[in-house]
Amino acid sequence: MRFRELFRQKPIQSILHDVDGGAHDSMNRTLTVRDLTFLGVAAVIGAGIFSTIGGAAYNGGPGVSLLFIITAITCGFTALCYAEFAARVPVAGSAYTYSYVTFGEIVAWIIGWALILEYAIGNIVVAISWSAYFNNILQNFGIHLPEWLTIGVQSAREAYDEALKSGVPTEDLAYSLAPKILGFKFCINLPAFLITCLVTWLAYIGIKESKRTANGMVILKLAVLVLVAIIGLWYIFSNGTTGNWTPFLPNGMSGVMAAVSGVFFAYIGFDAISTTAEECADPQRDMPKGMIYSLILCTIIYVVTTLVITGMVNYSEFGGVTDPLAYVFDKIQMPGIGFIVSISAVVAATSVLLVFQLGQPRIWMSMSRDGLLPGRFAKIHPKYRTPSFSTIATGILVGLPVLFVDDGLVTDLTSIGTLFAFVLVCGGVLLLPPRAKEAGKFNLPYVNGKFIVPVLVILFMVLARKRLLGAFGEIDSGDFQEILFLVFILLAIFMSVMSFTRNYSVIPVLGLLCCSYLMIEIPAKSWLVFFAWMGVGLLIYFWFGVKNSRLNRVQEA
Ligand code: ALA
Repeated sequence: MRFRELFRQKPIQSILHDVDGGAHDSMNRTLTVRDLTFLGVAAVIGAGIFSTIGGAAYNGGPGVSLLFIITAITCGFTALCYAEFAARVPVAGSAYTYSYVTFGEIVAWIIGWALILEYAIGNIVVAISWSAYFNNILQNFGIHLPEWLTIGVQSAREAYDEALKSGVPTEDLAYSLAPKILGFKFCINLPAFLITCLVTWLAYIGIKESKRTANGMVILKLAVLVLVAIIGLWYIFSNGTTGNWTPFLPNGMSGVMAAVSGVFFAYIGFDAISTTAEECADPQRDMPKGMIYSLILCTIIYVVTTLVITGMVNYSEFGGVTDPLAYVFDKIQMPGIGFIVSISAVVAATSVLLVFQLGQPRIWMSMSRDGLLPGRFAKIHPKYRTPSFSTIATGILVGLPVLFVDDGLVTDLTSIGTLFAFVLVCGGVLLLPPRAKEAGKFNLPYVNGKFIVPVLVILFMVLARKRLLGAFGEIDSGDFQEILFLVFILLAIFMSVMSFTRNYSVIPVLGLLCCSYLMIEIPAKSWLVFFAWMGVGLLIYFWFGVKNSRLNRVQEA
């Protein structure tokens, strides 16, 4: 095998021909712009706004609303790049398919592998968060599941060790109460497992049914968030608590930036729309609109929600609060609203689960069609017209870990995997051949970055000069986080030079740089796990994909 073969590219024409010419089993084309926007909102608004916003507000104060805007702009650049790809390559497969036509096979495989982090591993976090809110609701009805059936053994053990260390009584903890089976403590997160099974079943029986369920859930969660905003703003202005908004940046911009991973997690999902391209009535016209509309809607909701909760209660009270939206209403003696919020949190997490559980099998399906995964991953159910084997495989990949694992590290891992995919999508757009504007299709606006990109990069380096100088001093001490920062600076300089010499378009370049920057803000220890995950992926590629790739077989024939 020659090195060049690793970068063999799939021609766009052959992809379109496969879909239109019936080379694969076809799917139902039923999704409209409204459905796609709803799917986007269904995937985006979930555990992030209902949970991680608490920690983010604690670090950054009311000013964390700025981070939501910064992240939205970053995601907006990426969404535009996705939209450009979606207009050119309207088939299922998301960033995976897009990188196959631009960078070549090995990069496509790496992206496909990274997207498993976004969809499947991300869903582990969401299912665990679902379970926590669900238990709150059950307790409101006086139903108390045994503690050891509501928490994975890893989290239970950590809580136990923590209690031992701080001298807190341990006899009521899940780990102490759990029965022993074959010498092991039996602690599982049963509700998280059951919701994963239910959602997998919905995804299995078909996009139409899943679409109806997702639409219903989206309407409910939007209605509750609007209610939160109205009651919250009424409370803030009638009780004169607007003082909570000052200082707006209690810990400066560094406090705000400490919340990057959690805030980005809240936006993950808008790209999932692109995995349903083969089920859209008119993907080239509708998919870009669906992505951008859902992003705008979510940003408005996030910014308003952040301002509302930090206006109702002082930001400093959110330390360790995992259900901030319910918490603020309990604080102002409105537990009834808090209860409604908890129900909505469960609904929101369910819709995120559903969209991700729909997205993952469709990526595997594309990879399998290309020969990079065994053929059964592309099998379409004869009656339901869904990728049946892949859907069940996804259910197992999410359902088993949720029984046992802790969700801490997986949140960071999900964000890195997703940002990595975004970087390559933005980079991929720069490599696409120019095309004439076409009526009725999305056309990415071209703004020449020849001067704009270098000026912005220089401006950034001037603003970040203190960190830049400090980072050079850290090279010897091996501070991995600061080394990542220097790598980012090198990338920014490289992109400036390329923009200057090749007149690159501003939008994809800024998308690439903004996503890379968010990536390097994620803790270094999560990067190591990310590298290990990627290493395993490459081993599988060299063992299976490189030989069985459809492009390889075509070349050999
Ligand atoms: N954005 C999704 C959520 O917040 C992952 O649950």
